[in-house]
Amino acid sequence: MTISGIPRRGLLAASAACGLAHLAPFASALAGAGENWSDAFDAALERDGMLLGWKTPPDRLDTAALSVSGTWPNGLSGRFYRNGPSIHDRFDRRYSHWFDGDGMIQEFAIDGGRIAHRGRVIRTPKLDREDAAGRRLHDGFGTHLPGGAPLRGPDGMNAANISVLHHGGELLALWEGGSATRLNESTLAAEGFKSWSPELDGVAFSAHPKRDPQDGTLWNFGIHLAPQPAIVLYHIGRSGQMLGVGLVDAGPLGLVHDFAMTRRSLVFVIEPFLFDPARLGSASFLDAHTWHPQAETRVLVIDKADFSARRWHALPAGFGFHFGNGWEDTDGSIRLDYCRARDPGILTETLRYVMKGEFIASSPLRYTQVLLPPKGDGRIVPHAQDAEFARVAPAVVGRRHRYVYTLGSPAEPVGWTFRTVARRDLETGAIETFDYGPGRIPEEHLFIPKPGGSGEDDGWLIGTVLDWKAGLTGLSVFDARAIPAGPLAQAWLPYPLPLGFHGTFVRG
Ligand SMILES: [Fe+2]
Repeated sequence: MTISGIPRRGLLAASAACGLAHLAPFASALAGAGENWSDAFDAALERDGMLLGWKTPPDRLDTAALSVSGTWPNGLSGRFYRNGPSIHDRFDRRYSHWFDGDGMIQEFAIDGGRIAHRGRVIRTPKLDREDAAGRRLHDGFGTHLPGGAPLRGPDGMNAANISVLHHGGELLALWEGGSATRLNESTLAAEGFKSWSPELDGVAFSAHPKRDPQDGTLWNFGIHLAPQPAIVLYHIGRSGQMLGVGLVDAGPLGLVHDFAMTRRSLVFVIEPFLFDPARLGSASFLDAHTWHPQAETRVLVIDKADFSARRWHALPAGFGFHFGNGWEDTDGSIRLDYCRARDPGILTETLRYVMKGEFIASSPLRYTQVLLPPKGDGRIVPHAQDAEFARVAPAVVGRRHRYVYTLGSPAEPVGWTFRTVARRDLETGAIETFDYGPGRIPEEHLFIPKPGGSGEDDGWLIGTVLDWKAGLTGLSVFDARAIPAGPLAQAWLPYPLPLGFHGTFVRG
């Protein structure tokens, strides 16, 4: 394995720090009072059916054949997986942030027009320890639990609840504070944490890896916060072997959920929502972050071929989770799609208090273009449309793209859940939209290229939608070139699924 741009000793120190050395700060965070929001949520759900998306489902769900309307496209067969926080209540105690819920893998097995579904809670070591103890044991991302047990590193609170990756013949549930979790493709059962290499065990592996469309290799990162902040870089071969690892001192770090990749570079946007280890003694991990609105956003560009070759840019303060894509012009300028808000209120307020059944408005995530010149400060171009869960065709990841697919809302004032799916044409500025209508909340929609298709947008858009009025979740498929026409077909489950985050499609 090549370790590029870092002394190997530094990586080993980081790995060790993710183990026992992490005990002190995380264990100290477990002191303090916590409020149980179960009763408040249940009462709010009686009044507002939209909250169905945050209700804990059964641990196991099975449907042999979904009810399909419309014509499912020939050629769209395979398995569509999704992951997200699902188990929001444990031992009669509700988490106090959406992101804390324990993960549940959802599999839609598509064989022609016949679609089967399985949902399985991801049995992490955390769940097993808590079940053995008969009580909740640990803090979550945004939940502070009094009297919690000591953690053996970040994986002690690993909820495996953000995304799912199929790479090198393995199905992996992704978190971002620690290891990926291996899933058995036949049973969907969790089979322990993924070990990329012994020195990387327990090191953070984030939930947004990027696959290079040319060579099929995978790039990812992890944010390492203690004792010294650093960005860990991963380059993984097609069969899952480690090709390179890096450890980058990028100064103060905080929540970096996603990154962008171009042909030559890895791009990290470090917003001034920064981790302060001194606050962990009296706060959850989320609340150990401080928002610095007067500070700048720092953007780090790292050369994929030489991790020591880096450049920095500055942007105004803002906050976002996701990028659509990144690409690099011949002069070295880099352009990004970014779903960006003015501040992290959506994370610290909106997505926290929904667990209590309260809706608190926050700065919306807008579609934003970022320009990073070869030298000097970057520039942002905010657009009026709210946008999140931006995706592009797999073939243009890291390349110049024309189309980006997002979720959004139909009109001002912007709601904080989504109702529309949109295709933005970056050449013409045209935005084509489908509105699911009141009572329906779409989730991330993925672009799936047609076999033998031609053109960047010759494919389908596939994604789930919660019909909270009917109490059902459906799977939609669109012709990506005709989104306003509505779904070509929809397949409905006889039950609702909790709203989740990210998915992947495995052909075949
Ligand atoms: Fe994400």
